[in-house]
Amino acid sequence: MDRRHIVVLTGAGISAESGIPTFRGSGGLWFKHRIEDVATPEAFDRDPEMVLTFYNQRRAQLQSVEPNTAHKALARLEQGHRVSVVTQNVDNLHERAGSTNVLHLHGQLCRARSSADPDWAVDIGYGSIRMGQTCPLGSQLRPDVVWFGEPVPMMDAAREVVSTADVLMIVGTSLAVYPAAYLAHDAPPRAEVIVVDPEAQAGKIPGARIYRDKATLRVPLLVDELLG
Ligand code: APR
Repeated sequence: MDRRHIVVLTGAGISAESGIPTFRGSGGLWFKHRIEDVATPEAFDRDPEMVLTFYNQRRAQLQSVEPNTAHKALARLEQGHRVSVVTQNVDNLHERAGSTNVLHLHGQLCRARSSADPDWAVDIGYGSIRMGQTCPLGSQLRPDVVWFGEPVPMMDAAREVVSTADVLMIVGTSLAVYPAAYLAHDAPPRAEVIVVDPEAQAGKIPGARIYRDKATLRVPLLVDELLG
């Protein structure tokens, strides 16, 4: 078996079977909130306490869920290949499953950052961010996640990673959000592209191998195949 560069682009679907609802699965509501009411800079300006509370609840819940067999299979894949996980998820389940090379395109739930300086961020684990907690510049701390309409600072790095893929595995993402969705088309022409999603649409990625299965069923089988 030759060692290849396997890039795995994941979305909320890979964490669904760990008990974390997807963004567009429940009629457009995310934990009973409209995304634009909690995941935008305008929402934070309008009602910072409500947004902080929403993310404090998400962070606390993350402590009580576990990586699933799909996350764990991707960690196992590192035994035989160079694996780069590029995730849109802000949860830490890939890391907790053992993946050692994870790029978070949309930030990380367990980090807080300055509202004034996006480069000033700290790990807070599963703790809360409170009103009045400020960065050294005196600005209110906020979740270190990318909200709608904000820049995606890791996008260039992500495109670079995908551009060197021998295999691009796309798991559990609707590819509804840009610029992340561009990544599905950034693999080199010779790369093999594999999609795992119960709702995968044919033709969205020409030439891709599509499995309309849940991640916990299909990803371990694909990892066995790639390690075979
Ligand atoms: N296994 C695999 N895929 C699944 C599973 C599962 N068990 N359950 C659901 N899915 C698929 C759905 O069919 C859907 O295509 O996961 C996808 C989830 O899509 P979204 O809810 O749109 O999540 P995602 O693609 O990650 O959203 C991208 O949008 O809201 C923003 O920043 C947020 O990172 C997020 C981005």
